[in-house]
Amino acid sequence: MSAAIQSYTLLDDEDCEQRILRARETLGERLVILGHHYQRDEVFRHADFTGDSLKLSRQAASSKADYIVFCGVHFMAEVADILSRPEQVSILPDLSAGCSMADMADLQNVERAWQELSEVLDPDETISPVTYINSAADLKAFCGSHNGIVCTSTNARHVLEWCFEQREKVLFFPDQHLGRNTGAVMDIPLEEMVVWDYDKPMGGLTPEQIKKAKIILWKGFCSVHQMFQPEQIDNFKQKYPKTKIIAHPESPFEVCQKSDYIGSTEYIIKTIADAEPDTRWLVATELNLVNRLHEQFKHEGKNVHFMSPNVCMCSTMFRIDPQHLAWVLENLVEGHVVNQVSVPDDVATEAKRALERMLEISP
Ligand code: 13P
Ligand code: SF4
Repeated sequence: MSAAIQSYTLLDDEDCEQRILRARETLGERLVILGHHYQRDEVFRHADFTGDSLKLSRQAASSKADYIVFCGVHFMAEVADILSRPEQVSILPDLSAGCSMADMADLQNVERAWQELSEVLDPDETISPVTYINSAADLKAFCGSHNGIVCTSTNARHVLEWCFEQREKVLFFPDQHLGRNTGAVMDIPLEEMVVWDYDKPMGGLTPEQIKKAKIILWKGFCSVHQMFQPEQIDNFKQKYPKTKIIAHPESPFEVCQKSDYIGSTEYIIKTIADAEPDTRWLVATELNLVNRLHEQFKHEGKNVHFMSPNVCMCSTMFRIDPQHLAWVLENLVEGHVVNQVSVPDDVATEAKRALERMLEISP
C-alpha cells in the first residue's frame, strides 16, 4: 500500500530534503525532475532541468526516464504525459496545483464560441484556434482537430505569424494579455483585437466587430500578472530613472507598453544574466523567480526589484512543497506511483497534433 501524504505534512523541510536526496539517488536515471522557474527554492534546487513552459515541454518530450516528476502546475504535467512515450509516467506532486488562468477557458465554452462565431462566418475556413499552453488538454485537442495550434510565451509571435499564413483570423485563449501584447508587437491595431466575453451571448460582440477583428481574445487573465500596473513603473522610475523594465507578456498591455523588454521566464533570466554590471531592473513576473534573480545577480552589482509593492506569488505553483516531493519520490522507491497525470488517449492524440505543430515551427 502507498504511504499517505498526511504523515509527510508533519515533516520539516530539512527532513524532507534528506529524504528527497536519498530517493533521487536510489531512483537514479529512472527519474527526472522538471522544475518551472516559479517553484520555491526548497523544491527548485532538486530539479534536473529547469525552464519555461517551452523548454520543459521539449525536455519532457526527449526524456528517457521512466518517471517524469513535474514541479510545476497541472497543465505542464499533462503536456509531459502527452509528449512522452506511453510507458513513461508523468507525476504532479500535488494534484491541486492548477492554474487559475487555465481554468478560465473550458471546452464547453470554447465549443459554444465556435458555434456562435459560425453564425457570422465560417470559423473552420477563416479562424485558427490558438491555445496558450496554460490550458487543459481537451482545449489543446480542440485546436489539434480544428487546424489550430498551441503557443507559449516564448513562441507566441511565431505561432501567430504561422496562423495568419493559414487563415485570416485567430481565436486566442485563455490569456487575453499574451494575445494582445503579441498582436501589438506585430503592429495589429487594438481595434482589430476584440475581447470575447464567454459569459455573454456572442461574446458580447457585434457581427461587425467579429468580421473586422484579426484576433478574438478570450477574456482570461493571470491573477498574478494582472497585479502589475503602469503607475508602479512611473513611481519606481522617479527614484531610479535609469531602471530597465522587463515584463512577462501575461502582464497588462499598459505595463508591457512601458517595458524595455517583454518575454518568457527564460528570456527574463537570460536578459538580466547578459546585462552589464551595475544595472537596475524592475521585473513584472512571479515573486519566487524575482527573489532568485535578486540573490543570483546582486554580487555582479545588478539590482533586481519586484514590480508590485503587494505580495504577488503564484499560490498554485507554491503548492508543490518539499513534503509532497518527498512523498511522491519515496512512494516511487517503494514501487508505488502516486499522483499520476494521465490524459485519455483520444484527447492526447489530438492535443499532441497541436503541440507538435508548435514544436515544429518554434525557433
Ligand atoms: P513561461 O512559459 O514564460 O515560464 O510562463 C509560464 C507561466 O505560467 C507564466 O505565468
Ligand atoms: Fe497560471 Fe498565472 Fe500561476 Fe502562471 S503565474 S501558473 S499563468 S496562475
